[in-house]
Amino acid sequence: MPEMVSKTVFVTGATSGVGLATVKNLAADGAYLVLLCRNHAKGEEVCSTLKKLHPESHDPTLLVADMANLDDLRRVVAAYAEQGGTIDVLVNNAGVVCTQRELTSDGFEMTFAVNHLAPFLLTGLLLPNLMQAPEARIVNVASDAHNFVRGMDFSDLQSEKRYSTFKVYGQSKLANLLYTLELSTRLQGTKITANALHPGAVATGLGSQNGIMGKWIMKLLSPFFKTPEQGAATSLFLCKSDDVANVSGAYFVDSRPAKPKPWALDAGAASRLWACSSEMTQIDYPR
Ligand SMILES: NC(=O)c1ccc[n+]([C@@H]2O[C@H](COP(=O)([O-])OP(=O)(O)OC[C@H]3O[C@@H](n4cnc5c(N)ncnc54)[C@H](OP(=O)(O)O)[C@@H]3O)[C@@H](O)[C@H]2O)c1
Repeated sequence: MPEMVSKTVFVTGATSGVGLATVKNLAADGAYLVLLCRNHAKGEEVCSTLKKLHPESHDPTLLVADMANLDDLRRVVAAYAEQGGTIDVLVNNAGVVCTQRELTSDGFEMTFAVNHLAPFLLTGLLLPNLMQAPEARIVNVASDAHNFVRGMDFSDLQSEKRYSTFKVYGQSKLANLLYTLELSTRLQGTKITANALHPGAVATGLGSQNGIMGKWIMKLLSPFFKTPEQGAATSLFLCKSDDVANVSGAYFVDSRPAKPKPWALDAGAASRLWACSSEMTQIDYPR
């Protein structure tokens, strides 16, 4: 599809699963890709795969940063952002599920940090580059797993009091939705849209870092799940479709608008989460 030929698309978590399927499709469309990966060798492998599949495509730009280290992320992304290149689409896709409570090097709970705080910081750093595009889109890969909780537990954002995998992952994905809601409000009057999506239950590497159990659960369930290519369809729809050119603050499932749970539409919680996230990441979004 030629419509992406002149577009720059910044994607996190492109080394596996939904993100890899997303960038393969975008490379076929001729987009300029900027890939933020935590593992240099894996990132290089994706770049050479894309080049082999689409020799005519642009060389992707590879940025290496661990989203579990906000200082590392800030340094790498700020250096890229300062070069001033325009970004047309940002896909916040990287994510983790952790079955045990782990802390990042900044002292934040891992799932909340990688799934929410890191994209919050990244997006804020890239906003000036998105603002340069004639029309830009922010695509946040959230999940129906926001249904695992009944609201943000502001008394325990770092899951110090209680840790359950479902609660912590669900809360991080609810954070994606509340963030999208508040971000879209703040972006009103600009040419940037922000939408969120659920990719479906997809056979990917998600959870596979949790030892042999994590790997086996995904292996056992994978015949019932979507392929990564099917899972990438809604992300790609939000990146490309003219149907959503003027839509912002919405949630999509199977490339159609969907109604998230009521606690994902709580404007008060969205603005409270924004204030907490801004303090934790030490970023003030440009106005
Ligand atoms: N799979 C599903 O059923 C499902 C359902 C709903 C929502 N989702 C969402 O879909 C998104 C993509 O997940 P997936 O299923 O495709 O999982 P995946 O195959 O495990 O891919 C996750 C990606 O995120 C990257 N990542 C993880 N931690 C990172 C860190 N600290 N710094 C930088 N990158 C990091 C991974 O890099 P490495 O390759 O280096 O590990 C990988 O590229 C996630 O946001 C997830 O929550 C998935």
